[in-house]
Amino acid sequence: MVDLILNRRSRRDGFQARPVPKDTIDTIIACALAAPSSKNAQPWRIHVVTSRATLGEIADAVDSARGAETYVPIDPATGLPRDYESSVSESAQVLRGVSLGLFVENRGRFSDGRRVVASAADGVRENALIGYSLEMVGLGATIQNMWLAASALGLAGVFMGDVLIAEEMIRERLGLAGDLVGVLALGYTEAESFPKRLGEDRVVLHD
Ligand SMILES: Cc1cc2nc3c(=O)[nH]c(=O)nc-3n(C[C@H](O)[C@H](O)[C@H](O)COP(=O)(O)O)c2cc1C
Repeated sequence: MVDLILNRRSRRDGFQARPVPKDTIDTIIACALAAPSSKNAQPWRIHVVTSRATLGEIADAVDSARGAETYVPIDPATGLPRDYESSVSESAQVLRGVSLGLFVENRGRFSDGRRVVASAADGVRENALIGYSLEMVGLGATIQNMWLAASALGLAGVFMGDVLIAEEMIRERLGLAGDLVGVLALGYTEAESFPKRLGEDRVVLHD
């Protein structure tokens, strides 16, 4: 288990056309549903897409979305882009290569979604953001459960928030009622993966 965690890496190329068997998908989904969440509220809905045609349609919408070249996190204080390069086009290309897209939706009832939180009254918003971030932590747990289960079953891929650039199209296409969180894109790949340097400076030890 520890090796599985330490060896998991994002993989973005070299995918084979081979479909993912149903029992493999079922196991990954069972692991998704076993994730912890605040108040056991299970805010997730997982939308399973196995059609390469549908994945291709979504990839096209992502690729051609307005602002794709400059789609990076922004500084909320100024609205200016943070110092990152857009990876939208590369993310669209991943979607074209994989055999399975696990689209994650937030249906959490703490926040009722990012629009409701954003428009909450001053004095309520910060508290609503706590509920929203707790939902996101649970969603992160379900994503990581799926990713590790997939790795254990010989699959590889990457989770991508970039697909939010085409959120409207994806919500409509897959019938989402809540916010799109991103997609865990998976397939079989022979592409090499490289070890990464662990950010040990991110750990603070206390007595
Ligand atoms: C919340 C989240 C969003 C991400 N969004 C993207 C994305 O849109 N496109 C992409 O290529 N990778 C995306 N990634 C993958 C990260 O780039 C990757 O996890 C990171 O560089 C560390 O590499 P590793 O997964 O190999 O450890 C995302 C990862 C997370 C956890």
